[in-house]
Amino acid sequence: MSRGRRRLGRIWRRRGPLRTRLALSVTAAVALVAVGVCAAAFLVVRSALYEQLDLSLTQSARLAAQRDQGAAPGTLAGECRFLAAPACAEVVAADPAKDPATPGQLPVDPAAREVAAGRKAPYYTNITVAGYPARMLTTDYAKGRALQVALRADTVEDGIEEAAWWLLLTAAAGVLLAALLGYWVSRTGLAPVARLTATAERIAATRDARHRIELPPPGREDEITRLATSFNTMLGELEQSIAAQRQLVADASHELRTPLTALRTNAELLARSDRLTPDQRERASAALGRQLREVTGLVNDLIELARDEEPQPLVEQVGLGALVEHCAQAARTHWPAVPFHVHVPAEPVVVPGVPARLSRLLGNLLDNAAKFGRDGLPVEVELVAGVPGGRGPELTVRDHGPGISPQDLPHVFDRFYRAGAARALPGSGLGLAMARQIARAHSAELTAEAAPGGGALFRLAF
Ligand SMILES: Nc1ncnc2c1ncn2[C@@H]1O[C@H](COP(=O)(O)OP(=O)(O)O)[C@@H](O)[C@H]1O
Ligand SMILES: [Mg+2]
Repeated sequence: MSRGRRRLGRIWRRRGPLRTRLALSVTAAVALVAVGVCAAAFLVVRSALYEQLDLSLTQSARLAAQRDQGAAPGTLAGECRFLAAPACAEVVAADPAKDPATPGQLPVDPAAREVAAGRKAPYYTNITVAGYPARMLTTDYAKGRALQVALRADTVEDGIEEAAWWLLLTAAAGVLLAALLGYWVSRTGLAPVARLTATAERIAATRDARHRIELPPPGREDEITRLATSFNTMLGELEQSIAAQRQLVADASHELRTPLTALRTNAELLARSDRLTPDQRERASAALGRQLREVTGLVNDLIELARDEEPQPLVEQVGLGALVEHCAQAARTHWPAVPFHVHVPAEPVVVPGVPARLSRLLGNLLDNAAKFGRDGLPVEVELVAGVPGGRGPELTVRDHGPGISPQDLPHVFDRFYRAGAARALPGSGLGLAMARQIARAHSAELTAEAAPGGGALFRLAF
Protein backbone atom coordinates (compact mmCIF):
# COMPACT_ATOMS: atom_id res chain seq x y z
CA MET A 1 0.00 0.00 0.00
CA SER A 2 2.71 2.43 1.01
CA ARG A 3 4.82 1.19 -1.88
CA GLY A 4 1.95 1.86 -4.24
CA ARG A 5 1.55 5.34 -2.80
CA ARG A 6 5.23 6.08 -3.25
CA ARG A 7 5.04 4.94 -6.85
CA LEU A 8 2.06 7.17 -7.42
CA GLY A 9 4.00 10.07 -5.93
CA ARG A 10 6.91 9.38 -8.23
CA ILE A 11 4.71 9.31 -11.29
CA TRP A 12 3.03 12.49 -10.11
CA ARG A 13 6.35 14.27 -9.77
CA ARG A 14 7.86 12.97 -12.94
CA ARG A 15 5.01 13.08 -15.41
CA GLY A 16 4.09 16.14 -17.32
CA PRO A 17 4.78 19.81 -16.89
CA LEU A 18 3.65 21.89 -13.94
CA ARG A 19 0.66 23.18 -15.90
CA THR A 20 -0.74 19.69 -16.46
CA ARG A 21 -0.21 18.78 -12.84
CA LEU A 22 -1.92 21.93 -11.63
CA ALA A 23 -4.84 21.36 -14.01
CA LEU A 24 -5.15 17.77 -12.84
CA SER A 25 -5.12 18.62 -9.16
CA VAL A 26 -7.68 21.41 -9.53
CA THR A 27 -9.88 19.11 -11.60
CA ALA A 28 -9.57 16.30 -9.09
CA ALA A 29 -10.39 18.56 -6.15
CA VAL A 30 -13.43 20.18 -7.76
CA ALA A 31 -14.67 16.88 -9.19
CA LEU A 32 -14.35 15.23 -5.81
CA VAL A 33 -16.46 17.95 -4.24
CA ALA A 34 -19.09 17.75 -7.00
CA VAL A 35 -19.38 13.96 -6.75
CA GLY A 36 -19.42 14.09 -2.94
CA VAL A 37 -22.19 16.69 -2.85
CA CYS A 38 -24.29 14.71 -5.35
CA ALA A 39 -23.84 11.48 -3.38
CA ALA A 40 -24.86 13.22 -0.16
CA ALA A 41 -27.91 14.76 -1.89
CA PHE A 42 -28.90 11.33 -3.16
CA LEU A 43 -28.78 9.83 0.32
CA VAL A 44 -30.83 12.69 1.76
CA VAL A 45 -33.48 12.47 -0.98
CA ARG A 46 -33.77 8.72 -0.62
CA SER A 47 -34.19 8.77 3.12
CA ALA A 48 -36.76 11.60 2.87
CA LEU A 49 -38.81 9.65 0.34
CA TYR A 50 -38.74 6.46 2.41
CA GLU A 51 -39.62 8.39 5.52
CA GLN A 52 -43.09 9.18 4.12
CA LEU A 53 -43.70 5.57 3.29
CA ASP A 54 -42.40 4.35 6.64
CA LEU A 55 -44.73 6.74 8.44
CA SER A 56 -47.77 5.31 6.59
CA LEU A 57 -46.57 1.80 7.39
CA THR A 58 -46.33 2.56 11.11
CA GLN A 59 -49.84 4.01 11.07
CA SER A 60 -51.24 1.03 9.18
CA ALA A 61 -49.58 -1.36 11.61
CA ARG A 62 -51.13 0.46 14.56
CA LEU A 63 -54.58 0.40 12.97
CA ALA A 64 -54.30 -3.29 12.11
CA ALA A 65 -53.19 -4.11 15.62
CA GLN A 66 -56.14 -2.20 17.08
CA ARG A 67 -58.63 -3.84 14.73
CA ASP A 68 -57.56 -7.41 15.10
CA GLN A 69 -56.40 -7.88 18.66
CA GLY A 70 -54.46 -11.12 18.98
CA ALA A 71 -55.34 -12.69 15.60
CA ALA A 72 -53.85 -16.04 14.72
CA PRO A 73 -50.98 -16.27 12.25
CA GLY A 74 -52.13 -15.70 8.69
CA THR A 75 -53.26 -12.91 6.41
CA LEU A 76 -55.06 -10.07 8.14
CA ALA A 77 -55.88 -7.66 5.37
CA GLY A 78 -55.52 -6.77 1.77
CA GLU A 79 -53.50 -7.83 -1.14
CA CYS A 80 -50.47 -5.80 -2.00
CA ARG A 81 -51.10 -6.04 -5.69
CA PHE A 82 -52.86 -2.69 -6.17
CA LEU A 83 -51.06 0.56 -6.04
CA ALA A 84 -53.71 2.61 -4.26
CA ALA A 85 -54.88 -0.24 -2.02
CA PRO A 86 -54.49 -0.01 1.73
CA ALA A 87 -51.54 -1.78 3.29
CA CYS A 88 -51.67 -5.56 3.37
CA ALA A 89 -50.95 -7.13 6.75
CA GLU A 90 -49.97 -10.60 7.93
CA VAL A 91 -49.34 -12.10 11.33
CA VAL A 92 -46.19 -14.20 11.67
CA ALA A 93 -45.61 -16.75 14.47
CA ALA A 94 -42.28 -17.10 16.23
CA ASP A 95 -42.52 -20.85 15.74
CA PRO A 96 -42.64 -21.95 12.05
CA ALA A 97 -44.75 -24.93 13.11
CA LYS A 98 -47.63 -22.60 13.88
CA ASP A 99 -47.66 -21.14 10.35
CA PRO A 100 -50.99 -21.42 8.46
CA ALA A 101 -51.33 -24.11 5.80
CA THR A 102 -51.37 -21.62 2.91
CA PRO A 103 -48.40 -19.25 3.14
CA GLY A 104 -49.13 -15.52 2.93
CA GLN A 105 -47.89 -13.16 0.24
CA LEU A 106 -45.26 -11.45 2.33
CA PRO A 107 -41.87 -13.14 2.68
CA VAL A 108 -41.03 -14.36 6.17
CA ASP A 109 -37.36 -14.37 6.99
CA PRO A 110 -35.63 -15.50 10.22
CA ALA A 111 -35.41 -11.89 11.43
CA ALA A 112 -39.24 -11.70 11.45
CA ARG A 113 -39.34 -14.77 13.71
CA GLU A 114 -36.89 -13.05 16.02
CA VAL A 115 -39.18 -10.01 16.22
CA ALA A 116 -42.10 -12.37 16.93
CA ALA A 117 -40.13 -13.96 19.75
CA GLY A 118 -39.46 -10.45 21.10
CA ARG A 119 -35.71 -10.69 20.60
CA LYS A 120 -35.39 -8.06 17.91
CA ALA A 121 -36.59 -4.50 17.39
CA PRO A 122 -39.05 -3.66 14.55
CA TYR A 123 -37.43 -3.06 11.17
CA TYR A 124 -38.16 -2.01 7.58
CA THR A 125 -37.22 -3.93 4.43
CA ASN A 126 -37.58 -3.48 0.69
CA ILE A 127 -39.26 -6.48 -0.85
CA THR A 128 -41.04 -7.54 -4.03
CA VAL A 129 -44.68 -8.59 -3.83
CA ALA A 130 -46.30 -10.13 -6.90
CA GLY A 131 -43.58 -8.58 -9.03
CA TYR A 132 -43.97 -5.05 -7.61
CA PRO A 133 -41.56 -3.21 -5.39
CA ALA A 134 -42.87 -2.80 -1.86
CA ARG A 135 -41.70 -1.68 1.55
CA MET A 136 -42.49 -3.76 4.59
CA LEU A 137 -42.52 -3.05 8.31
CA THR A 138 -42.03 -5.98 10.65
CA THR A 139 -43.11 -5.05 14.16
CA ASP A 140 -44.11 -6.79 17.38
CA TYR A 141 -47.75 -7.74 17.79
CA ALA A 142 -49.01 -10.13 20.44
CA LYS A 143 -46.95 -12.59 22.44
CA GLY A 144 -45.06 -15.00 20.14
CA ARG A 145 -46.29 -13.21 17.04
CA ALA A 146 -45.15 -10.38 14.81
CA LEU A 147 -47.06 -8.18 12.42
CA GLN A 148 -45.82 -7.53 8.89
CA VAL A 149 -47.37 -4.58 7.00
CA ALA A 150 -46.43 -3.79 3.40
CA LEU A 151 -47.18 -1.00 0.93
CA ARG A 152 -46.32 -0.77 -2.73
CA ALA A 153 -43.35 1.51 -3.19
CA ASP A 154 -43.44 2.10 -6.96
CA THR A 155 -43.73 5.87 -6.70
CA VAL A 156 -40.97 6.10 -4.13
CA GLU A 157 -38.67 3.84 -6.12
CA ASP A 158 -39.42 5.81 -9.27
CA GLY A 159 -38.71 9.04 -7.44
CA ILE A 160 -35.43 7.69 -6.13
CA GLU A 161 -34.44 6.46 -9.57
CA GLU A 162 -35.25 9.80 -11.11
CA ALA A 163 -33.32 11.62 -8.43
CA ALA A 164 -30.40 9.28 -9.01
CA TRP A 165 -30.39 10.04 -12.72
CA TRP A 166 -30.55 13.77 -12.18
CA LEU A 167 -27.83 13.72 -9.57
CA LEU A 168 -25.65 11.52 -11.78
CA LEU A 169 -26.12 14.02 -14.57
CA THR A 170 -25.27 16.87 -12.21
CA ALA A 171 -22.16 15.07 -11.00
CA ALA A 172 -21.04 14.42 -14.58
CA ALA A 173 -21.59 18.08 -15.43
CA GLY A 174 -19.67 18.97 -12.28
CA VAL A 175 -16.71 16.83 -13.32
CA LEU A 176 -16.75 18.38 -16.78
CA LEU A 177 -16.89 21.84 -15.29
CA ALA A 178 -14.06 20.88 -12.94
CA ALA A 179 -11.92 19.86 -15.89
CA LEU A 180 -12.62 23.16 -17.65
CA LEU A 181 -11.92 25.05 -14.45
CA GLY A 182 -8.66 23.15 -13.90
CA TYR A 183 -7.55 23.95 -17.42
CA TRP A 184 -8.45 27.61 -17.00
CA VAL A 185 -6.80 27.96 -13.59
CA SER A 186 -3.60 26.34 -14.79
CA ARG A 187 -3.55 28.58 -17.85
CA THR A 188 -4.20 31.89 -16.12
CA GLY A 189 -2.34 30.96 -12.92
CA LEU A 190 0.79 29.95 -14.75
CA ALA A 191 0.68 32.60 -17.45
CA PRO A 192 3.32 34.76 -15.68
CA VAL A 193 5.54 31.71 -15.32
CA ALA A 194 5.10 31.01 -19.00
CA ARG A 195 6.12 34.60 -19.77
CA LEU A 196 9.15 34.22 -17.54
CA THR A 197 10.12 30.99 -19.26
CA ALA A 198 9.63 32.51 -22.69
CA THR A 199 11.89 35.44 -21.84
CA ALA A 200 14.56 33.16 -20.38
CA GLU A 201 14.42 30.99 -23.49
CA ARG A 202 14.61 34.02 -25.75
CA ILE A 203 17.71 35.22 -23.92
CA ALA A 204 19.27 31.77 -24.11
CA ALA A 205 18.57 31.63 -27.85
CA THR A 206 19.64 35.17 -28.76
CA ARG A 207 22.28 35.65 -26.03
CA ASP A 208 20.90 39.16 -25.71
CA ALA A 209 20.50 40.26 -22.10
CA ARG A 210 18.56 43.38 -23.03
CA HIS A 211 15.23 41.56 -22.82
CA ARG A 212 13.04 42.19 -19.78
CA ILE A 213 9.91 40.58 -18.41
CA GLU A 214 6.87 42.82 -18.46
CA LEU A 215 5.69 43.54 -14.94
CA PRO A 216 2.09 44.23 -13.93
CA PRO A 217 1.26 47.74 -12.74
CA PRO A 218 2.46 48.43 -9.19
CA GLY A 219 0.10 47.38 -6.41
CA ARG A 220 -0.66 44.06 -8.07
CA GLU A 221 2.52 42.27 -7.10
CA ASP A 222 2.49 38.63 -6.16
CA GLU A 223 5.14 35.94 -5.67
CA ILE A 224 5.64 35.51 -9.38
CA THR A 225 5.98 39.25 -9.91
CA ARG A 226 8.67 39.27 -7.25
CA LEU A 227 10.41 36.44 -9.06
CA ALA A 228 10.12 38.37 -12.32
CA THR A 229 11.49 41.49 -10.65
CA SER A 230 14.55 39.67 -9.36
CA PHE A 231 14.93 38.05 -12.76
CA ASN A 232 14.91 41.51 -14.35
CA THR A 233 17.42 42.76 -11.79
CA MET A 234 19.65 39.83 -12.60
CA LEU A 235 19.33 40.59 -16.31
CA GLY A 236 20.30 44.20 -15.62
CA GLU A 237 23.43 43.06 -13.80
CA LEU A 238 24.22 40.63 -16.58
CA GLU A 239 23.76 43.30 -19.22
CA GLN A 240 25.97 45.66 -17.29
CA SER A 241 28.67 43.10 -16.80
CA ILE A 242 28.59 42.12 -20.48
CA ALA A 243 28.79 45.78 -21.48
CA ALA A 244 31.69 46.32 -19.07
CA GLN A 245 33.49 43.33 -20.50
CA ARG A 246 32.97 44.50 -24.07
CA GLN A 247 34.17 47.95 -23.11
CA LEU A 248 37.27 46.51 -21.47
CA VAL A 249 38.11 44.42 -24.51
CA ALA A 250 37.48 47.37 -26.83
CA ASP A 251 39.56 49.73 -24.68
CA ALA A 252 42.30 47.18 -24.29
CA SER A 253 42.64 46.50 -27.99
CA HIS A 254 42.62 50.20 -28.67
CA GLU A 255 45.26 50.88 -26.03
CA LEU A 256 47.43 48.01 -27.16
CA ARG A 257 47.47 49.15 -30.76
CA THR A 258 49.83 52.12 -30.25
CA PRO A 259 52.57 50.36 -28.24
CA LEU A 260 52.37 47.34 -30.51
CA THR A 261 52.85 49.53 -33.58
CA ALA A 262 55.85 51.17 -31.95
CA LEU A 263 57.17 47.74 -31.06
CA ARG A 264 56.83 46.55 -34.63
CA THR A 265 58.58 49.62 -35.99
CA ASN A 266 61.50 49.10 -33.66
CA ALA A 267 61.63 45.37 -34.40
CA GLU A 268 61.64 46.07 -38.14
CA LEU A 269 64.35 48.63 -37.63
CA LEU A 270 66.47 46.12 -35.74
CA ALA A 271 65.88 43.48 -38.41
CA ARG A 272 67.83 45.72 -40.76
CA SER A 273 70.46 46.39 -38.11
CA ASP A 274 73.34 46.07 -40.63
CA ARG A 275 72.36 49.50 -41.92
CA LEU A 276 72.41 51.10 -38.47
CA THR A 277 75.32 52.61 -36.62
CA PRO A 278 76.14 50.87 -33.31
CA ASP A 279 74.73 53.91 -31.52
CA GLN A 280 71.40 53.73 -33.38
CA ARG A 281 71.24 50.00 -32.79
CA GLU A 282 71.82 50.54 -29.10
CA ARG A 283 68.99 53.08 -28.88
CA ALA A 284 66.56 50.99 -30.90
CA SER A 285 67.10 47.92 -28.78
CA ALA A 286 66.76 49.93 -25.58
CA ALA A 287 63.46 51.34 -26.87
CA LEU A 288 62.34 47.86 -27.84
CA GLY A 289 63.09 46.57 -24.37
CA ARG A 290 61.20 49.46 -22.74
CA GLN A 291 58.18 49.03 -25.00
CA LEU A 292 58.14 45.30 -24.37
CA ARG A 293 58.14 45.94 -20.64
CA GLU A 294 55.34 48.46 -21.07
CA VAL A 295 53.18 46.10 -23.09
CA THR A 296 53.85 43.32 -20.62
CA GLY A 297 52.82 45.61 -17.76
CA LEU A 298 49.71 46.63 -19.63
CA VAL A 299 48.73 43.05 -20.33
CA ASN A 300 49.38 42.08 -16.71
CA ASP A 301 47.25 44.97 -15.51
CA LEU A 302 44.49 43.93 -17.88
CA ILE A 303 44.54 40.40 -16.57
CA GLU A 304 44.39 41.73 -13.01
CA LEU A 305 41.47 43.96 -13.91
CA ALA A 306 39.54 41.17 -15.60
CA ARG A 307 39.70 39.20 -12.37
CA ASP A 308 36.66 39.34 -10.25
CA GLU A 309 36.31 38.54 -6.55
CA GLU A 310 39.20 37.80 -4.26
CA PRO A 311 39.69 34.06 -4.16
CA GLN A 312 38.35 33.08 -0.74
CA PRO A 313 41.09 30.63 0.29
CA LEU A 314 43.67 33.45 0.02
CA VAL A 315 41.85 35.75 2.42
CA GLU A 316 43.61 36.09 5.77
CA GLN A 317 43.98 38.59 8.60
CA VAL A 318 46.38 41.21 7.22
CA GLY A 319 48.38 43.48 9.51
CA LEU A 320 48.13 46.82 7.67
CA GLY A 321 51.04 48.42 9.54
CA ALA A 322 53.56 45.83 8.38
CA LEU A 323 52.08 45.90 4.89
CA VAL A 324 52.52 49.69 4.65
CA GLU A 325 56.13 49.49 5.87
CA HIS A 326 56.89 46.76 3.40
CA CYS A 327 55.38 48.62 0.43
CA ALA A 328 57.15 51.83 1.38
CA GLN A 329 60.44 49.95 1.48
CA ALA A 330 59.81 48.55 -1.98
CA ALA A 331 58.94 52.06 -3.25
CA ARG A 332 62.12 53.50 -1.78
CA THR A 333 64.27 51.11 -3.78
CA HIS A 334 62.23 51.93 -6.86
CA TRP A 335 62.30 55.71 -6.39
CA PRO A 336 65.58 56.52 -4.59
CA ALA A 337 65.08 60.28 -5.10
CA VAL A 338 61.75 60.38 -3.26
CA PRO A 339 61.57 60.35 0.55
CA PHE A 340 58.65 58.24 1.82
CA HIS A 341 57.40 59.24 5.28
CA VAL A 342 55.36 56.54 7.00
CA HIS A 343 53.18 56.99 10.11
CA VAL A 344 51.59 53.83 11.51
CA PRO A 345 49.96 53.49 14.93
CA ALA A 346 51.73 51.45 17.59
CA GLU A 347 48.87 48.99 18.00
CA PRO A 348 48.34 46.44 15.22
CA VAL A 349 45.68 47.31 12.63
CA VAL A 350 44.22 44.15 11.12
CA VAL A 351 41.72 43.68 8.27
CA PRO A 352 40.65 40.53 6.41
CA GLY A 353 42.11 40.52 2.91
CA VAL A 354 44.59 39.15 0.41
CA PRO A 355 48.05 40.58 1.24
CA ALA A 356 49.38 40.41 -2.32
CA ARG A 357 46.39 42.35 -3.67
CA LEU A 358 46.51 44.98 -0.95
CA SER A 359 50.24 45.43 -1.63
CA ARG A 360 49.42 45.92 -5.27
CA LEU A 361 46.85 48.60 -4.39
CA LEU A 362 49.20 50.48 -2.12
CA GLY A 363 52.08 49.99 -4.57
CA ASN A 364 50.03 51.71 -7.26
CA LEU A 365 49.26 54.66 -5.00
CA LEU A 366 52.92 55.06 -3.94
CA ASP A 367 54.04 54.69 -7.52
CA ASN A 368 51.68 57.47 -8.66
CA ALA A 369 52.66 59.70 -5.77
CA ALA A 370 56.36 59.30 -6.61
CA LYS A 371 55.76 59.60 -10.34
CA PHE A 372 53.57 62.71 -10.20
CA GLY A 373 55.12 64.24 -7.08
CA ARG A 374 58.00 66.68 -7.20
CA ASP A 375 61.50 65.25 -6.79
CA GLY A 376 62.86 65.77 -3.29
CA LEU A 377 59.48 66.48 -1.74
CA PRO A 378 58.21 63.73 0.55
CA VAL A 379 55.33 61.31 -0.01
CA GLU A 380 53.40 60.93 3.25
CA VAL A 381 51.71 57.67 4.11
CA GLU A 382 49.54 57.56 7.21
CA LEU A 383 47.60 54.71 8.74
CA VAL A 384 44.88 55.46 11.30
CA ALA A 385 43.41 52.63 13.36
CA GLY A 386 39.64 52.23 13.32
CA VAL A 387 37.30 52.67 16.27
CA PRO A 388 35.81 49.36 17.51
CA GLY A 389 32.14 49.29 16.50
CA GLY A 390 32.56 52.53 14.53
CA ARG A 391 34.72 53.77 11.69
CA GLY A 392 37.16 51.27 10.14
CA PRO A 393 40.88 51.80 9.65
CA GLU A 394 41.94 54.44 7.14
CA LEU A 395 45.04 54.77 5.00
CA THR A 396 46.06 58.01 3.27
CA VAL A 397 48.80 58.69 0.71
CA ARG A 398 49.63 62.29 -0.15
CA ASP A 399 52.26 63.92 -2.30
CA HIS A 400 53.41 67.47 -2.94
CA GLY A 401 53.10 67.41 -6.70
CA PRO A 402 50.75 69.39 -8.93
CA GLY A 403 47.73 67.40 -7.65
CA ILE A 404 44.74 66.39 -9.74
CA SER A 405 42.81 69.13 -11.51
CA PRO A 406 39.08 69.33 -10.65
CA GLN A 407 38.02 68.31 -14.16
CA ASP A 408 40.20 65.17 -13.98
CA LEU A 409 39.16 64.21 -10.47
CA PRO A 410 35.95 62.35 -11.42
CA HIS A 411 37.79 60.31 -14.07
CA VAL A 412 41.11 59.25 -12.55
CA PHE A 413 39.64 55.87 -11.51
CA ASP A 414 38.38 55.14 -15.04
CA ARG A 415 40.23 52.56 -17.02
CA PHE A 416 42.89 53.97 -19.36
CA TYR A 417 42.23 57.50 -18.14
CA ARG A 418 45.31 59.67 -17.97
CA ALA A 419 45.24 63.39 -17.42
CA GLY A 420 46.84 65.46 -20.17
CA ALA A 421 49.91 66.23 -18.09
CA ALA A 422 50.47 62.53 -17.37
CA ARG A 423 50.72 61.41 -20.99
CA ALA A 424 54.43 62.15 -21.15
CA LEU A 425 55.13 59.82 -18.22
CA PRO A 426 55.12 56.04 -18.49
CA GLY A 427 51.89 54.31 -17.51
CA SER A 428 48.74 52.76 -18.86
CA GLY A 429 45.97 54.53 -16.95
CA LEU A 430 44.95 51.19 -15.44
CA GLY A 431 46.64 51.57 -12.05
CA LEU A 432 43.90 53.47 -10.23
CA ALA A 433 41.09 51.45 -11.88
CA MET A 434 42.73 48.34 -10.53
CA ALA A 435 43.35 49.94 -7.14
CA ARG A 436 39.67 50.83 -6.81
CA GLN A 437 38.63 47.33 -7.89
CA ILE A 438 40.89 45.79 -5.25
CA ALA A 439 39.52 48.21 -2.64
CA ARG A 440 35.92 47.28 -3.50
CA ALA A 441 36.73 43.58 -3.29
CA HIS A 442 37.92 44.30 0.25
CA SER A 443 34.76 46.29 1.04
CA ALA A 444 36.83 49.46 1.24
CA GLU A 445 36.35 52.78 -0.52
CA LEU A 446 39.21 54.44 -2.39
CA THR A 447 38.82 58.17 -3.07
CA ALA A 448 40.98 60.97 -4.40
CA GLU A 449 40.96 64.59 -3.29
CA ALA A 450 43.09 67.68 -3.39
CA ALA A 451 45.45 67.81 -0.39
CA PRO A 452 45.36 71.02 1.64
CA GLY A 453 48.40 73.01 0.58
CA GLY A 454 48.70 71.34 -2.84
CA GLY A 455 49.29 67.82 -4.08
CA ALA A 456 47.05 64.82 -4.40
CA LEU A 457 45.61 62.83 -1.51
CA PHE A 458 44.30 59.30 -1.86
CA ARG A 459 42.19 57.88 0.94
CA LEU A 460 41.48 54.18 1.47
CA ALA A 461 38.73 53.69 4.08
CA PHE A 462 37.86 50.19 5.28
N1 LIG B 1 49.40 61.44 -7.22
C1 LIG B 1 48.87 61.93 -8.35
N2 LIG B 1 49.04 63.25 -8.65
C2 LIG B 1 48.49 63.74 -9.78
N3 LIG B 1 47.78 63.04 -10.67
C3 LIG B 1 47.59 61.75 -10.41
C4 LIG B 1 48.10 61.13 -9.24
N4 LIG B 1 47.76 59.84 -9.27
C5 LIG B 1 47.02 59.64 -10.39
N5 LIG B 1 46.92 60.77 -11.10
C6 LIG B 1 46.21 60.97 -12.37
O1 LIG B 1 45.36 59.88 -12.56
C7 LIG B 1 45.64 59.20 -13.77
C8 LIG B 1 45.39 57.75 -13.63
O2 LIG B 1 46.33 57.13 -12.77
P1 LIG B 1 46.73 55.64 -13.01
O3 LIG B 1 45.47 54.92 -13.19
O4 LIG B 1 47.61 55.19 -11.93
O5 LIG B 1 47.46 55.66 -14.41
P2 LIG B 1 48.98 55.87 -14.76
O6 LIG B 1 49.71 55.92 -13.50
O7 LIG B 1 49.29 54.66 -15.55
O8 LIG B 1 49.00 57.11 -15.57
C9 LIG B 1 47.05 59.55 -14.05
O9 LIG B 1 47.36 59.44 -15.38
C10 LIG B 1 47.14 60.97 -13.53
O10 LIG B 1 46.65 61.84 -14.50
MG1 LIG C 1 49.67 54.61 -11.94
